[in-house]
Amino acid sequence: MIAYFNGDFLSDDQVHIDPNDRGFLFSDGLYEAIRSYDGRLFKVEEHRRRLLHGIEALRFDQDFVPDIRSIAEELLMRNRLEDAGDAFLYFQITRGVAPRSHAFPMKGSPLTVYAYARPLTSKMEEQEKGIEAVTTPDIRWSRCDVKTIALLPNTLAHQSALDAGASEAVFIRDGFVQEGSHSNLFIVQNGVVKTPPLTNYVLAGITRRSVLDLCRSLGVESREAAISLDDFYAADEMWMTGTTSEITPIISVDGKRIGDGVPGDATRTLQTSFRDMTKNF
Ligand code: PDD
Repeated sequence: MIAYFNGDFLSDDQVHIDPNDRGFLFSDGLYEAIRSYDGRLFKVEEHRRRLLHGIEALRFDQDFVPDIRSIAEELLMRNRLEDAGDAFLYFQITRGVAPRSHAFPMKGSPLTVYAYARPLTSKMEEQEKGIEAVTTPDIRWSRCDVKTIALLPNTLAHQSALDAGASEAVFIRDGFVQEGSHSNLFIVQNGVVKTPPLTNYVLAGITRRSVLDLCRSLGVESREAAISLDDFYAADEMWMTGTTSEITPIISVDGKRIGDGVPGDATRTLQTSFRDMTKNF
């Protein structure tokens, strides 16, 4: 596999991360997960904007911000992913290498930039049958709108879901649903599609935005509104969204059946429209 590392394209086994990298020492970094459909990058501009939001929030030196679109295109080409099939592209940017100190390195220190692309196939069985989810207390920090690499609460939550025989963990804060360990969440309640509003506890998911846009173009009523745990359990339909999950139905939460326990009509309609969109953009 050909990866990108600090300006070079090289075999992934040639990438060596310095132990003084602040990503390694402090989780002082950001990431983006982007997808291509048949060689075309999906919503790359939206991913770039979200990365810039993180760069501003973490006060990274803006002089070293990479052009993720051209790196992504080159990675697709060099890994022969530019025409057939889908790919997953990962970008990670850290504050760079410096002797361990809480203080930022001197101005002008370069960021570390690493990226790779690998083939990806949608999990069709999960998208057809739906998955089970469990809830978990939201123990994350208060800047979940920033896509940092500090994902320990997310990995712990996800593993707790797997240990319980489920596939996704749903963060609950003060009795309200926030998002999944690696997804945004939607319910259908009395014919209205609802998703938690964007706050500092929710990532502005690119797929979330696409689904809200699709609702509008299909004439499906949708609302960004707080969802209590009671309303979550009582939802008629539910799904999670994410770059890799796309629209994946959720058919049970904490062992309680959602709706009829099978993916519902609104879920199917949106899945179909989403697939059409990924074929024609
Ligand atoms: N997940 N919330 C969290 C905490 C996430 O990690 C992700 C992304 C999302 C959905 O964002 P988007 O639709 O932009 O992917 C929400 C990983 C990267 C994924 O699904 O691949």
